[in-house]
Amino acid sequence: MRIAVAGATGTVGQHVVAALKTRGHEPVPLSRGTGVDLVAATGLDDALRGVDAVIDVTSTTSMSAKGSVAFFGAVTRNLLAAEKRAGIGHHVALSIVGADKVDAGYYAGKAAQEHILMATPGGWSILRATQFHEFARQMTERMRFAGVQLAPAMECQPVAASEVGDALADIAAGDPRGLDTDLAGPRVERMTAMVRDYLAAVGDGRHVFSVSMPGAFGKSLRDGAILPGPDARLGTQTFAEWVAAQAATTTTAA
Ligand SMILES: NC(=O)c1ccc[n+]([C@@H]2O[C@H](COP(=O)([O-])OP(=O)(O)OC[C@H]3O[C@@H](n4cnc5c(N)ncnc54)[C@H](OP(=O)(O)O)[C@@H]3O)[C@@H](O)[C@H]2O)c1
Repeated sequence: MRIAVAGATGTVGQHVVAALKTRGHEPVPLSRGTGVDLVAATGLDDALRGVDAVIDVTSTTSMSAKGSVAFFGAVTRNLLAAEKRAGIGHHVALSIVGADKVDAGYYAGKAAQEHILMATPGGWSILRATQFHEFARQMTERMRFAGVQLAPAMECQPVAASEVGDALADIAAGDPRGLDTDLAGPRVERMTAMVRDYLAAVGDGRHVFSVSMPGAFGKSLRDGAILPGPDARLGTQTFAEWVAAQAATTTTAA
């Protein structure tokens, strides 16, 4: 099958592309680097020609509710409209566990994305996943200020982005599922320790300061709204195993 991947260059997008190739599908990457801007809706119709299904793993760096809602709203509407024009019958979106409970910040955009799809009569699948192991690395890019490394005070149950990529590739190749079973990692972890262990693995021994996130968003994190329920499917790779692999890669590259 020809399966378009919106956000193919991103953290999980790269794994989605690899998983599709492993399964014998033809991934069609959609990102600004390939000439498709999903907010401005440029280049979409040409890119979707001959495509059978679309996987949306785009993201924004905006942490505000306004910015996130604007981004995910525009991307989802633009993709759905272009899919309709192209006669594509399956849209697969990656969401986050807690998108239906944390109505604040970045999560407000994920809720808006879900609402648009759930209001669409069929032809869609939503997979909610927990934070990726790779989220620890993303924190080192997004929460370091003047050399000081911060991490949100929160517990999560991280999953390997590669396992999320595998799950999305399998969903896209089948019939639309609606809201699928949540996907989480095998163990509960503390984000501050995850960031510290990741930095140590890549040879950076700096201290990581734990910060309580303010407002409704912070309260939701502390209340465990982003932890999976008992029915979630669990991935197999632990955060410790992922970190060990990062350390091995760093050593090899040195
Ligand atoms: N990170 C996590 O721990 C986590 C956990 C659960 C669910 N998720 C969900 O997984 C999805 C992907 O997250 P991620 O962390 O893999 O994202 P990411 O690494 O930040 O990658 C974002 C992707 O979106 C593309 N993109 C951004 N703006 C675009 C635009 N205007 N037009 C076209 N492409 C655009 C980027 O490509 P270009 O910049 O080249 O355009 C990039 O490929 C998100 O929806 C997120 O909510 C993430």
